[in-house]
Amino acid sequence: MTTTTIESNLQEQRLFKPSTKFSQASYIKSRSEYNKLCDRAQENPERFWAELADSELQWFKTWDTVLDWQPPHAKWFVGGKLNITHNCLDRHLTASSKNMPALVWQGEPGDARTYSYFELHQEVCQMANVLKQLGVTKGDRVGIYLPMIPEAAIAMLACARIGAVHSVIFAGFSAEAIKGRLLDAEAKVVITADGGWRKNKVVPLKTQVDKALASGEVPSVESVIVVIRTGQRIHMQPDRDYWWQDLQNGTSCDCPAEPMDSEDPLFILYTSGTTGKPKGVVHTVGGYSLYTHLTTKWAFDLKDTDVFWCTADVGWITGHSYTVYGPLSNGATTVMYEGAPHAGNPGCLWDVVEKYGVTVFYTAPTAIRLLMTFGEELPQSRNLSSIRLLGTVGEPINPTVWMWYHRVIGAGRCPIVDTWWQTETGGVMLTPLPGAIPTKPGSATLPFPGIVADVVDLSGNPVPVNEGGYLVIKQPWPGMIRTVYNNPDRYLSTYWTKIAPKDGQYFYFTGDGARQDEDGYFWIVGRVDDVINIAGHRLGTMEVESALVSHSAVAEAAVVGRASEIKGEELVAFITLKPEYVATEELTQTLKQHVVHEIGAIARPAEIQFAKALPKTRSGKIMRRFLRAIASGEEVTGDVSTLEDRTALDKLRS
Ligand code: WT7
Repeated sequence: MTTTTIESNLQEQRLFKPSTKFSQASYIKSRSEYNKLCDRAQENPERFWAELADSELQWFKTWDTVLDWQPPHAKWFVGGKLNITHNCLDRHLTASSKNMPALVWQGEPGDARTYSYFELHQEVCQMANVLKQLGVTKGDRVGIYLPMIPEAAIAMLACARIGAVHSVIFAGFSAEAIKGRLLDAEAKVVITADGGWRKNKVVPLKTQVDKALASGEVPSVESVIVVIRTGQRIHMQPDRDYWWQDLQNGTSCDCPAEPMDSEDPLFILYTSGTTGKPKGVVHTVGGYSLYTHLTTKWAFDLKDTDVFWCTADVGWITGHSYTVYGPLSNGATTVMYEGAPHAGNPGCLWDVVEKYGVTVFYTAPTAIRLLMTFGEELPQSRNLSSIRLLGTVGEPINPTVWMWYHRVIGAGRCPIVDTWWQTETGGVMLTPLPGAIPTKPGSATLPFPGIVADVVDLSGNPVPVNEGGYLVIKQPWPGMIRTVYNNPDRYLSTYWTKIAPKDGQYFYFTGDGARQDEDGYFWIVGRVDDVINIAGHRLGTMEVESALVSHSAVAEAAVVGRASEIKGEELVAFITLKPEYVATEELTQTLKQHVVHEIGAIARPAEIQFAKALPKTRSGKIMRRFLRAIASGEEVTGDVSTLEDRTALDKLRS
């Protein structure tokens, strides 16, 4: 973690108030209502969350203890029993709701499907029975490596139905990355597809799984379920691989939801950190159910009549919380889309909005920046009048981009919720409540009610107004990470020891730098650790470095981020080669491909620079600050006294 000053030069004063009409129709209608909720939470946090857990969710058995907080370990609604699929499906099977669309899906080649709540429930129960027949029981882990097709949501819900722990692996990850995750999670079953569609090409998913499982390298995996999506020929290993569609045939659709302990794990999702290996973030049933339900309801003002489109892939937490669990728990219609933002035609996203009458649209700034390059005419030629609320997530949004989103997509009338959160937080943490909080372009505004956020120094003292510091969360919340799977020490050291208040309190360290302005609004500056944000996705520099040094030509590697117009950041790798190798264009390509092989296409370096030596401090630490400057063509300034070999820097510069 760097201790350099955290600076933000964003000085944005414009204020956008929701219309009276929007406010009056929303759940939280005014700043004073928001304040009241926050006060109530502050007075008695346990009562606050307990009342909501009671009113917003259905429980099979009520909890005995609201919160058991033994820092840094939290247990929520201890003794309570519930099942998230009951809240997402069964409770919407009333006569008036069961035929409402739960999930509408648009495939890239133009095919489409709609599932009513009744139909989705049937599918989920059936797959849950299939999993049982394959020997999956409560607590077993199931890997899911699927494209954005309804089966991805069905597979997740089927696991949750019987208490199996899903671990979704983004379909852009490589065989090596799959293997690492399946090994760590000791998955018993993997659910994948013959392929997925991406920009008119087939992504060979099953082939990647075969490579990951080759020669029994992941001994825990007993079965592989394969969805037919693209129809191309693939290898099916006897007694291991089964077609999803075959398994479904003749299987009963009757599968009662398993009563889960509130603190039973719901899923593991791997995310990048500051060390080489991604960490398995564990979320549990009770707290996550409440937190995703409530944040979806209040931050997106979601009613059961809404058509919510969160464009994130289910391979990321945003897809978990806001494509699958949150909207379904609220009885709304969730939209799933298989294609890239510019698959087929650059207006394809707006076609989906128009076709399904999307009312709430949630995406990442990187996608908006890309859409901006296609011009205003495209969205203006579509009917986007169904949209009433817009959202962004994943990275700071530049005010210019915010204004474009507001004016061109929102026709100047839709509030924008800039939601700050993380894989670890389960749901949104900083966000305007759209009917209550006036927005400023570029600010995630204020904490969600019940969340105690602050900007502090390394000793946990609040920093003055408008000064940069570390964003922390000072009290436990229901959606918080419970542990790092298989690695409790890492849970402690990553999140709970970096900020050390003198009085022994535990503050959750987010890894982000931020400042708070005179109105208390939060402005996120970006990561203060070695995590890079590429197109709204997190990557650890160490992870990419480990991938590079695993190539026989590489002696040493250092990876830094550089600003990129569309992606936000891109990777630049500095490499020293082993003596017997020479730097060539061919080797550059080989090394880029090697990273894709080890991690996946999102980690492909934009540039590789070969160096005789990397600049290091006398204690041997790579001076990334210099590398960052060099990567972005900036003047190398600052203290070079700790540099071990000054000539290394000069050579790099030239
Ligand atoms: C990191 C978390 C869960 C959201 C998707 C990414 C950055 C997220 C914002 C925002 C500025 C943001 C932070 C955070 N981030 N939202 N609204 N404004 N930065 O989840 O992969 O766990 O990444 O994304 O740096 O720490 P993730």
